[in-house]
Amino acid sequence: MNKKFWKDKKVLITGHTGFKGSWLSLWLQSAGASIVGYSLPPPTDPNLFEVANVEDGMCSINGDVRDIMQLKATITKYQPEIIIHMAAQALVRFSYIDPIETYTTNILGTVNVLEAVRQIKAPCIVLIVTSDKCYQNNEWFWGYRENEPMGGNDPYSSSKGCAEIIVSAYRHSYFPVENYDRHNVAIASARAGNVVGGGDWSNDRLIPDIIKAFMENRPVIVRNPKATRPWQHVLEPLNGYLCLIENLWSNAKEFSAGWNFGPNDDVQEVSWIVERMMKLWGKNAQWELDSGQNPHENKYLKLDCSKTKNILKWSPKLNLKVTLDWIIEWYRGYQQNKDMRCYTESEINRYEKL
Ligand SMILES: NC(=O)c1ccc[n+]([C@@H]2O[C@H](COP(=O)([O-])OP(=O)(O)OC[C@H]3O[C@@H](n4cnc5c(N)ncnc54)[C@H](O)[C@@H]3O)[C@@H](O)[C@H]2O)c1
Repeated sequence: MNKKFWKDKKVLITGHTGFKGSWLSLWLQSAGASIVGYSLPPPTDPNLFEVANVEDGMCSINGDVRDIMQLKATITKYQPEIIIHMAAQALVRFSYIDPIETYTTNILGTVNVLEAVRQIKAPCIVLIVTSDKCYQNNEWFWGYRENEPMGGNDPYSSSKGCAEIIVSAYRHSYFPVENYDRHNVAIASARAGNVVGGGDWSNDRLIPDIIKAFMENRPVIVRNPKATRPWQHVLEPLNGYLCLIENLWSNAKEFSAGWNFGPNDDVQEVSWIVERMMKLWGKNAQWELDSGQNPHENKYLKLDCSKTKNILKWSPKLNLKVTLDWIIEWYRGYQQNKDMRCYTESEINRYEKL
């Protein structure tokens, strides 16, 4: 990302109190952007938003994306030049428990963001963050390309597939790229893989599950040791989102589309990740197989990022080993009561230098 571009840009982030939203808010604060966050309170306790004191440096609004009136009022008041929509019910397993919360937040929330922009006639760049899980999963080894069918076998994945279809429908119906000069709204979507990093305490995600077990001196319970996912450090897709927005700003017609952000060919099984983190953590950490009944989760998932690499010129900087080193260092810092805002900012700084 180009820090100069972001200086004084008016950016609205939904989901700024979440894991990715907190990292993104800190990054954009360091670049001098003027940020408004619109979101429900942080979804976990502890959470990065409070641990790193993210609110200090932005305007944080407590709002629900299902409430179009409040959303419209916020956009009207702050007139953002850029909207990054990340608010979501973001957990696959919870989506089985509460599909209504998942569908209303992820589908209606996306419609509301786009509809608010349409009704207000606000010229802006809109990035809708969906997921690598938006594709129809065929359980094959090849990576999914941006033009492959949307799908999803569980409520979360299908809600993200729907969000993608909605983005495409809004673009075609109201904001066609060929008429950009008339409406001045550019919409892109970003499909990133399983994002990992310090400061995530979500339930039923691999890294937080591992860290919580380490900190409580109990074995890590592993559900699907043979499953593979495109793991990547949180700064990788965030860097991709920011690059994409910079390109949309200068060339809306070419970049208003869906984009994959995934790691290089560094896809490892869950068991490899658990073993590696146990080695880094030390202290006789152990893992056990979860013998309970678990809802279906896809075994294979990989993205083909050729388009992003060739056209956007984005590529990942960290391999999986370094990513896991950084994560362990982050949580050690947290355990040692370090200033986690400074620590997280220094990690962003270290990433920028790569
Ligand atoms: N973390 C990952 O591995 C991953 C992978 C792919 C895609 N994503 C997507 O990235 C985005 C951010 O994910 P995350 O990991 O930071 O999730 P998170 O659960 O940490 O944060 C979710 C955010 O959305 C907010 N939110 C939830 N429901 C809301 C509502 N109704 N109205 C307003 N705000 C609401 C929460 O308060 C929080 O700020 C999501 O769209 C998620 O689907 C995440």
